[in-house]
Amino acid sequence: MKRLLITGGSGFIGSHTCVVLLKQGYELYVLDSHCNSHPKVIDRVVKITGDEESSTINKVFLIEGDLRDQNLLNKLFSDSIYQGKPIEGVIHFAGLKSVQESTANPLLYWDSNVNGSINLLRSMDQFDCRTIVFSSSATIYGASKKSFLPETSPINPLNPYGQTKLAVEKLLRDVFKSSPNKWRISNLRYFNPIGAHSSGEIGEDPLGIPNNLFPFITQVAAGRREKLTIFGKDWPTLDGTCIRDYIHVMDLAEGHLLALECLLAEEPQLMNLNLGTGLGTSVLELVNTFQSVNNLEMPYEFASRRKGDVPQIIADNSMALSRLHWNPSRNLEDMCRDGWKWQTLNPKGYL
Ligand code: NAD
Ligand code: UD1
Repeated sequence: MKRLLITGGSGFIGSHTCVVLLKQGYELYVLDSHCNSHPKVIDRVVKITGDEESSTINKVFLIEGDLRDQNLLNKLFSDSIYQGKPIEGVIHFAGLKSVQESTANPLLYWDSNVNGSINLLRSMDQFDCRTIVFSSSATIYGASKKSFLPETSPINPLNPYGQTKLAVEKLLRDVFKSSPNKWRISNLRYFNPIGAHSSGEIGEDPLGIPNNLFPFITQVAAGRREKLTIFGKDWPTLDGTCIRDYIHVMDLAEGHLLALECLLAEEPQLMNLNLGTGLGTSVLELVNTFQSVNNLEMPYEFASRRKGDVPQIIADNSMALSRLHWNPSRNLEDMCRDGWKWQTLNPKGYL
């Protein structure tokens, strides 16, 4: 079976994608610095994917290291060739993702996200591996009057994190243009991934106080945080709270498998695809669904709007649905149930 390199494979989205890829029979090299994850994640991935007859333990190799280490990257590609099993494709999750931290420390973000990606592409080119799926983000889109954002929406990231995502997309476009008959590239622009694997073995495990809504909700519900603060109740939406396109992390993971297989099967190309459900949910709707599905109540209060927020972001996902034959089928209830199961089974994350 084909061998893939998964950068950032110990992280939230990467680990769920490893489950999907292993189930499909791929052999994985996972490269992760564990600056925002725990090495134990991969043991859990093996636990979920292995059964008594076919253990996946020998199909996933965890390498602790940083993308900015060019020698390490070169060694991974060259060792694979030497073993007669070259790396045939890369899914590139590794990167830093906090908007706040990127504003405080842009140098760190540009170095890790952009220089790390340059190193990766340099090694890929050198060792003739030219298929890559990149974790981009809907955060690169600027303000738009459209209710649903297509891939052609105006691009205008508002913070250094978003700028680094756009920079890597631009880099990939230039690399593609330099040899359009060689490179296979997919920029996947995620909307708001939440939830967890239905086993409760893997999930989102943010360091410190979560910035994003869903992990904050699960931690308040678990009693780890006192209450949820909802940023703004005067937005121009039906209930006055912001609307986002929440997507189950397992649907997102399946999108990666399909994008990779599409690239491997088709002619060299570069494609930009939105991965969202195309459905909008307000903050209050998410909180209410979480409470009712999990039969609990959680304290919340309203505060003023958060700087940089916009009232509504929903994907026009028609391109991903048709190009990949992708079917994001898990609903908001599934996201809330699975995310809560992960939280209750792992009250302190992977610790
Ligand atoms: P995550 O932090 O859980 O996973 C990223 C992983 O990359 C972590 O395990 C981290 O240790 C590793 N890493 C970071 N920098 C590295 C480096 N220089 N070298 C090696 N490993 C490194 O984040 P996630 O939520 O799984 O996101 C994965 C990717 O998707 C990121 O690139 C992120 O920017 C992007 N993305 C995430 C979201 C989201 O809401 N989670 C939305 C849009 C895009
Ligand atoms: C945020 C980032 C975006 C990044 C994405 C995924 C900002 C402005 N945007 O998107 O760049 O790609 O995370 O990492 O930071 N909310 C609350 N209370 C909270 C937390 C959030 O009310 O404690 C609200 C927010 O105001 C927003 C919604 O919940 O309306 C979703 O927030 P969040 O989960 O942070 O995602 P985004 O803002 O969409």
